[in-house]
Amino acid sequence: MDNRLFFPATQRNRKSIKEVLSRILLTRGFILEIGSGSGEHGVVFQKYFPEITWQSSDPELIHRNSISSWIEHEELNLKMPQPLDINVEKIPWEIPSELLLSIQGIISINMIHIASWNCIRALFNESGKLLSNGKFLMLYGPFKIGNKHISQSNELFDNSLKMQNKSWGVRDLGEVSEEAAKNGFIEEQLIRMPAYNFSVIYRKISIKDSELCFKHF
Ligand SMILES: C[S@@+](CC[C@H](N)C(=O)[O-])C[C@H]1O[C@@H](n2cnc3c(N)ncnc32)[C@H](O)[C@@H]1O
Repeated sequence: MDNRLFFPATQRNRKSIKEVLSRILLTRGFILEIGSGSGEHGVVFQKYFPEITWQSSDPELIHRNSISSWIEHEELNLKMPQPLDINVEKIPWEIPSELLLSIQGIISINMIHIASWNCIRALFNESGKLLSNGKFLMLYGPFKIGNKHISQSNELFDNSLKMQNKSWGVRDLGEVSEEAAKNGFIEEQLIRMPAYNFSVIYRKISIKDSELCFKHF
């Protein structure tokens, strides 16, 4: 059965995200994607970076079914694993051992603004445990900078999120990076993306060093 879902934003942002990934991905190892949604990003990136293994995940069955259908549709069954059922708040995440052994980074695209702060804490906390020093966690999406929206469209979007769910909302980058630092991540790169979005690359270093770096900012 074809369970593919189509998320229009993935058509618009895949090219610019791919360019960022080209700069940070190593040539082998697993990428764990959190909140993969339809799975369209996963299959595109798996095809573009054939040396790595793209491990998608999502807590929603309808999304995992879509991801599986996309994998089949793109004839990636032999290359790309089936999606994992990961809800960031349900810890520890159940991760296959081969992924644990060769994970090079974790990516989450357009997820943290449609999740509660507890989810953000859990994302950094669990990622901090899974990733050894030198590995990365990349977030993509809209952020406030200095607690201010960078565009009117982001502000309207933030209001609409909060109307849907009080615990959702466009996050302040400083607050997110503070949470990251508590778990041993430094904000290594902040890349401005189209449509008032950012890619943020966090790098895992020792907790002691990350606290020093954060104070320095
Ligand atoms: C706006 S969609 C983005 C999907 C995809 N990354 C994209 O860019 O099209 C947010 C995704 O985050 C997932 N999500 C929501 N809460 C989550 C949680 N607590 N843990 C993991 N994923 C979550 C949703 O199921 C959904 O697939």
